[in-house]
Amino acid sequence: MSASDAIENLAHDSRSFEPNPEFAKTAVATSELYDQASNDRMAFWKAQAEKLHWHKPFTEALDWTYAPFARWFADGKLNVAYNCLDRHVEAGIGSRVALYFEGEPGDEQVYTYSTLLAAVKKAANALTALGVRQGDRVAIYLPMIPEAVISMLAVARIGAIHSVIFGGFSADSIASRIQDAHAKLVITSDGGYRKGKASPLKPAVDEALRGNNCPTVEHVLVVERTGGDVDWSEGRDIWWKDAMHAAHEEHVAEAFDAENPLFILYTSGTTGKPKGILHTSGGYLTQATYTHRNVFDLKPETDIYWCTADIGWITGHSYVTYGPLANGATQVIYEGTPDSPHPGRWWEIIQKYGVTQLYTAPTAIRSFMKLGRAIPDAFDLRSLRLLGSVGESINPEAWMWYREVIGGNRCPIVDTWWQTETGAIMISPLPGVTHTKPGSAQVALPGINAQVVDDEGNPVGNDHGGYLTVAEPWPSMLRGIWGDDERYVDTYWSRFDGQYFAGDGAKRDEDGDIWLLGRVDDVMNVSGHRLSTTEIESALVSHHWVAEAAVVGAKDELTGQAVVAFVILRQDEIADAPNEADLAKVLRDHVAKQIGPIAKPRQILVVSELPKTRSGKIMRRLLRDVAEDRPIGDVTTLADSGVMGAIGNKIAGGATD
Ligand code: WTA
Repeated sequence: MSASDAIENLAHDSRSFEPNPEFAKTAVATSELYDQASNDRMAFWKAQAEKLHWHKPFTEALDWTYAPFARWFADGKLNVAYNCLDRHVEAGIGSRVALYFEGEPGDEQVYTYSTLLAAVKKAANALTALGVRQGDRVAIYLPMIPEAVISMLAVARIGAIHSVIFGGFSADSIASRIQDAHAKLVITSDGGYRKGKASPLKPAVDEALRGNNCPTVEHVLVVERTGGDVDWSEGRDIWWKDAMHAAHEEHVAEAFDAENPLFILYTSGTTGKPKGILHTSGGYLTQATYTHRNVFDLKPETDIYWCTADIGWITGHSYVTYGPLANGATQVIYEGTPDSPHPGRWWEIIQKYGVTQLYTAPTAIRSFMKLGRAIPDAFDLRSLRLLGSVGESINPEAWMWYREVIGGNRCPIVDTWWQTETGAIMISPLPGVTHTKPGSAQVALPGINAQVVDDEGNPVGNDHGGYLTVAEPWPSMLRGIWGDDERYVDTYWSRFDGQYFAGDGAKRDEDGDIWLLGRVDDVMNVSGHRLSTTEIESALVSHHWVAEAAVVGAKDELTGQAVVAFVILRQDEIADAPNEADLAKVLRDHVAKQIGPIAKPRQILVVSELPKTRSGKIMRRLLRDVAEDRPIGDVTTLADSGVMGAIGNKIAGGATD
């Protein structure tokens, strides 16, 4: 059974949980949002946008003249960082805590809205002093430390564009992202703490910039986090603390157009080249703020919110940096891994800070489930009042465990579907309003028109499956792919006329609730992270031993899907190749070096042929059958029907890593 079949079966799960009465008060106001949005969608979004501070008010919500290139609130002007900081300080809540930082070694830092604003002003001046101007790109390669948030806001404050690169990516991945965006500055650190030890970061940036590999980069700002030794390039490298020390304290936030680009975030697509997803300012901030406030039932005066995502992913952008800060929330950020120095570290953090909302990924929940409830049970988790899930479908068993063991049967769970491209949450229950169902993301948020359609793009009825689309533009939608308008149109707007194609399969149950069934393209979802089969295949064939490679996402109990690679070796090159186990290790490390450790195949299988159709297309479906250890499906369209037998025998012989 494939992962999506499994989900499809579970989609018949009939459990349902009533809204918690504690949320009843909020619920009245929240359920009105549905009416407001369906009465007048544009007036609804205008009202949401008006909750921000506009230096110059907008008059029109959506300009769709150049569809599918949207412009939202386009004649308005605002400053994103001002909305996240200054306006709260001016409103008299400067002493409210914005960030509780917990380092992995146990060190702490607290930033109030006033002190965070002061740091961002200085950082903005430091960037300006280094020649960064409106529209310039700044790459950020940092661990989850306060400087990560400060850097993003400082870039936004001066109207420049950040491109955050997840700390788990390799030098090659950093270089290709810097080159694609022509970044002028890189912000990194000597390292960060992970799994109980200091792990260096700057060497990957040094390697990415070596020689004249990234000629657009003028400077590298280096945050001191671990105190570890670093190589230093005189004239290019500058310590963050020196730049901050020299910077002026005052900085007045300038107003930028609502459509001024805010960030680029690279994500895997179906080809080998990652896509630079482009987001702009006013619409993005409107929806990040609106969803954060309503989906998490935020009470900024009393809540302590914690989203465990890294800023290297879209969840860290929208639900660590922009949504929470624009809402004046108090939040926890944590640098390290969940099991350092002990497997109860997350629960200890919740107890220590009195966390009220926890937003995390199903893969984390499954790994805690595996360790057993004794670990969370040893901590006081009664401060929690709402739980969130994101990144992949949460299987009903994990949902139930999350509800019972972590949420004490009292916290509503919001299973939030969205994407790097959508910028903010699109489909989710609303606490206090929706009867929740384990495993389903359920309903489009007010203001969002999500559909499940058939091959022709017509909405399917209840109890039917199809493709997930969004039928009308939304404020935080991507504005394009950096430098590649054609790919933007092709990828998202060509499959169905006038509808955004999300790339996910979905099904409506008998109540019309939406269940997500996984990707329908060559994108895998490993631990909630998107990986492209093609990108990993290219990495494999870039090794001189490999003639051909086919990669599939196989079902995995812990990570949702896992990368399984089938490779054909080059007979002329493998004289120096070691035995199969060592060979697999070398190739796995090669993928880690090319893309990053997250892309490492779980298994590499050496085969003599790959199953192909007569037109030469690799039949990944059959390889998935092998990788998931089930009977091989229909082979009648294969050019050589004997191939699968040979592959099957090979596996039976135990040729796994
Ligand atoms: C998947 C992460 C089911 C989906 C915010 C989507 C989900 C991809 C869910 C986007 C969910 C995300 N239920 N599937 N609640 N949330 N996905 O860009 O396949 O890293 O297309 O954004 O993750 O991943 P991305």
